[in-house]
Amino acid sequence: MSAGHGMRIERLLVVTFCAFAIAACANGGSPQPAATPLYDPAALPSGPVGAQIALGHDLIEHTRAKMPQYVTARMNCSACHVNAGTVARGGTLAGVYAEFPQWNKRAHRVIALQDRIAQCFLYSMNGRPPAYDSREMIAMVSYISWISRGTPVLATADPQAGFRLPEPSASPDVANGATIYAAKCASCHQANGNGIALAVPPLWGPDSFNAGAGMHRIGDMAGFVRYNMPQNAPGSLTPGQSFDVAAYVLSHARPAFAKSRAVAFPSQPASFF
Ligand code: HEC
Ligand code: HEC
Repeated sequence: MSAGHGMRIERLLVVTFCAFAIAACANGGSPQPAATPLYDPAALPSGPVGAQIALGHDLIEHTRAKMPQYVTARMNCSACHVNAGTVARGGTLAGVYAEFPQWNKRAHRVIALQDRIAQCFLYSMNGRPPAYDSREMIAMVSYISWISRGTPVLATADPQAGFRLPEPSASPDVANGATIYAAKCASCHQANGNGIALAVPPLWGPDSFNAGAGMHRIGDMAGFVRYNMPQNAPGSLTPGQSFDVAAYVLSHARPAFAKSRAVAFPSQPASFF
């Protein structure tokens, strides 16, 4: 299900683009290069680096099953980084490699990409990060570097631009959010918000992301919902409806991030984050 509607739409766009390119050539226009997909297993470099990139892709799609010791939430990275971070307003990871090193307000220091991945392990996955020199961490960094190829290092453009929504002037209407949820979300995410096994991620409750996660900020969730949900009709909600339903989702209980919890790695104490 995670390789569902979003991917089909992307493929349609690629097909449309190619058809357009052929038409342009037939009409005597200059030949257009075919759009290259961000991730194509057949296009990876051969040898051990290509193998690490492929492993990173696999771990981002199947995090819970492949890294159970690091994940408490019933989530894969691709629950929020749609199609392994290849969708523009779906938590894209394309270009993200080039954003690091980066000043991070939360850590209050300059961080590397590994530190940012660690944050999503701590909060979004409600788990703990693998060691920075582990095969898994290097695989995820390798994958993100591959889908960032061509972006100049230390580029200033924010890959998440257009993902968050500006806060609305009026406060969101939680009751309207509940109505939208029942009509447009509960068929997949269930009335109790718990989702379905690993196919549909939980939105609240003990198996969801913890209260320290980026998705717990209403602007991030409303933006994600606006552009990616309902998964079978993305783009069908207005920004106002997206805020209302996000406020309803966030009105439920979820795990707290325990600052005092021992985090084996990174070596800094957890309160540092
Ligand atoms: C057709 C099934 C389906 C429907 C309907 C649907 N979702 Fe989702 N949702 C998914 C799947 C599957 C994912 C994982 C990402 C992906 O593969 O697109 C997801 C991911 C999410 C996420 C991020 C991951 C998480 O668990 O926090 C949020 C937030 C979300 N959906 C909210 C909503 C809201 C709000 C609605 C209703 C407006 C909705 N969804 C409707 C299937 C659905
Ligand atoms: C519950 C949703 C969720 C899950 C699951 C999740 N993330 Fe994230 N991630 C986010 C959000 C939201 C952001 C911040 C977007 C923003 O800047 O507002 C983010 C940001 C990031 C960034 C930085 C992006 C940038 O533009 O700087 C990286 C890298 C990242 N996540 C990797 C991962 C990895 C790897 C996993 C799995 C181990 C993961 N995430 C799981 C929601 C999630």
